[in-house]
Amino acid sequence: MDMTRSPDPSGAESTQQLELAIILPTLNERGNLAPLVERIEDALGSGGWEVLIVDDNSADGTADEARRIALTDGRVRVIQRIGRRGLASAAIEGFCATAAPFCAVMDADHQHDPALLPLMLNALKAGEGDIAVASRFAEGASMEGWGRPDREKLSGAANALARKLTGVELTDPMSGYFMLPSETARALVPKLSGIGFKILLDLLASAERPMKVREFPLNFSARREGESKLDRAIAFDFLAGLYDKTFGKLIPTRFALFGTVGAMGVIVHMAVLSLVLFWFDKAFTVGQAVAVLSAMSFNFWLNNWLTYRDQRLKGTAAVLKGWVGFCLTCAVGGFANVAVATLLESRGLYWVIAALAGIVVGSVWNYALSSRFVWGR
Ligand code: GDD
Ligand code: MN
Repeated sequence: MDMTRSPDPSGAESTQQLELAIILPTLNERGNLAPLVERIEDALGSGGWEVLIVDDNSADGTADEARRIALTDGRVRVIQRIGRRGLASAAIEGFCATAAPFCAVMDADHQHDPALLPLMLNALKAGEGDIAVASRFAEGASMEGWGRPDREKLSGAANALARKLTGVELTDPMSGYFMLPSETARALVPKLSGIGFKILLDLLASAERPMKVREFPLNFSARREGESKLDRAIAFDFLAGLYDKTFGKLIPTRFALFGTVGAMGVIVHMAVLSLVLFWFDKAFTVGQAVAVLSAMSFNFWLNNWLTYRDQRLKGTAAVLKGWVGFCLTCAVGGFANVAVATLLESRGLYWVIAALAGIVVGSVWNYALSSRFVWGR
């Protein structure tokens, strides 16, 4: 067994104080971990840092692999979360779990070059900025395996929006690689939404005074192993961030999304209901039941794409399981929906009003349970 990389168990090296925590959010990154810890050691030397692997119960056994590494390397620690998901919340978990005065967040898939870590740390220690950000768009940066011709345009638009949102000038507000004093990060945590993966943007937008950003050009590499968990709907993240910072306190972003999707579901519901009632000439109860099922499937699909895009169920099996789960948790809500609507309609209430009343009863139930049991894992 290779013990050469671990700090001396006699404590000879423990004189080097802990300075930096490198937070690695992971979802199915098993094979990437050991080589990454080696690269971090190459960049930072043998001591003064720790790696915090925050794994959301990956199916490929990432947490076990992390524990295997940690067994012989005291600088590596593992936080395994069960029943929770999300890159942003994993980073927050890391901020709160370290004693190191500085913390960095980086991808575990080798897209982010650890060689920047000492440069970022030195810059922060020298007071060159409040936060160090590795940028894919800064002067001197490069991107391997992600050659989009519209890159400049896209980054220009993103830049302008981010400036509005955060009051800071930066070329890559969606970067997943940055470093800041741990205390600053923790102080901002209560203001963060924790949704999605726009954690850097969220941090910058939550600061009371605009942060001074020190950028580092990043040579963005191709992923070493496995596949990406995020999509590139950057515009959506900006809109969500914008909403979060303006109306988010009033109505939480996630709830607003769920409500919007629900409202669209009402349109689907009404369309299907009127179709069954007037085209196929079936009874109201039948129409209402068919409409509930259609709207439910539509809502599941759209919520999976929008509301829970940071926890999106992917692959036929997972989506099917999620759909069944969504239908089951909604079954009681759906039953109440049909019952309430039928009752009201039989009492002479106009069919549209009766159906709407059913929908309100059903949706409250849906939100409460589905966020916990379908996308919460
Ligand atoms: N714990 C946890 N939970 N980790 C996650 C989750 C999650 O739900 N989703 C993704 N991760 C981990 C991945 O395992 C990886 O280490 C890191 O977060 C980034 O995920 P990737 O799937 O590699 O993201 P990407 O390469 O497509 O996206 C990159 O670019 C984005 C901007 O375009 C990342 O750098 C993002 O941080 C960045 O915002
Ligand atoms: Mn990646």
